[in-house]
Amino acid sequence: MSAKTLAGLEQTLSEEIASLGGANIRAGKRIVFFEGNDELMMKANLSLRTALNILIPFYEFDAVDEEQLYEEIYDFPWEDMFSLRNTFSIQATVAGDLFTHSKYVALKTKDAIADRFRKISGRRPNVEVRNADYQFVIHINYNHCFLSLNSSGHGLDKRGYRLQSNEAPLNEAMAAGIILKSKWDKLSDIYDPMSGSGTFGIEAALIGTNTPPGIHRRFAFQTWNDYNQELFYKVLNNLKSNITELKANIYSKDISHQNLEIIHQNASRAGVEELLEIEQGDYFESEAKSIGGIVYLNPPYGERMAIEDAKAEYKLIGDQLKKKYKSCDAWIISSNIAALKAFGLKPESKEIVYNGGLECRLQHYKLF
Ligand SMILES: C[S@@+](CC[C@H](N)C(=O)[O-])C[C@H]1O[C@@H](n2cnc3c(N)ncnc32)[C@H](O)[C@@H]1O
Repeated sequence: MSAKTLAGLEQTLSEEIASLGGANIRAGKRIVFFEGNDELMMKANLSLRTALNILIPFYEFDAVDEEQLYEEIYDFPWEDMFSLRNTFSIQATVAGDLFTHSKYVALKTKDAIADRFRKISGRRPNVEVRNADYQFVIHINYNHCFLSLNSSGHGLDKRGYRLQSNEAPLNEAMAAGIILKSKWDKLSDIYDPMSGSGTFGIEAALIGTNTPPGIHRRFAFQTWNDYNQELFYKVLNNLKSNITELKANIYSKDISHQNLEIIHQNASRAGVEELLEIEQGDYFESEAKSIGGIVYLNPPYGERMAIEDAKAEYKLIGDQLKKKYKSCDAWIISSNIAALKAFGLKPESKEIVYNGGLECRLQHYKLF
């Protein structure tokens, strides 16, 4: 099996998979490979916070051109896997110079499957672009072709609580990944003082209560012909029985009244509204309420500002942390790398991560 993720979260995802009992875990670029049974596949879909989807590989071959690709796909016994009653979709990714058009590869793959069904039964299953029962993924790396089934369906990072967001929201998997990287003890206070649509606070509440992010959604594997419903409910109920009370305070603040409303709505949909201290306020008038909390900061990127102004703003943000969040840990993520350099504090660590395709820097500070 493999789990796709965002660049920069591979190690965190590997640790999450290990904690679920995955075997032979190997991290690649934006992907983690692991082994496990159906139960683990279900657990992974329900629980992993930093995965985008869980793929199950089932067919691998070599092809040097489109004809060979078509024939290899045509030869696979698709009728043993799904039937005319099911819908299917194909998503293709290509690397190397033999196959260069992913859409064309997807089309050839779809044609080969449809032609085989037509030959065998005179009819073909329908293609459904979104929410197909069988969502196939073909990945071609030079002449190596790998076919997998996407067991998740729509992305696991789309938790479903964020119907509205501010203009620059953090991906849910990224927010969860940063909280997991920070090794929060689930007891210390959490501050998200520029919380936008509330992603850090909501993800922290889910983590702090041991709530699996996927318990309210459906997955593609639940439409498969061999879906084991009994096993799924056993896994789900077992995970639900591990949900605990929140033992920490989580402060979600934003300066904008409009965002406050959005945070309330998102938190309510996620079922954690009453666990958050949601407050309208200015970061520059805020402070830590106890010793040893963690601050997650995702300030405005300042892309529309002159760089000198953005640097001055980030310097003030750093000064506020230094003065008012003494004894806290702080994690700051921003795509404005030049402005981050003016922060005025020495980071414990810094790394490149990607949010919504945008290169960002994640920096960790220990404040004394
Ligand atoms: C990049 S967005 C945060 C996005 C957030 N992480 C999310 O996932 O939705 C930056 C936020 O900082 C807020 N903000 C800007 N200046 C602020 C200030 N002085 N005090 C508090 N919030 C502020 C903006 O209203 C905006 O929502």
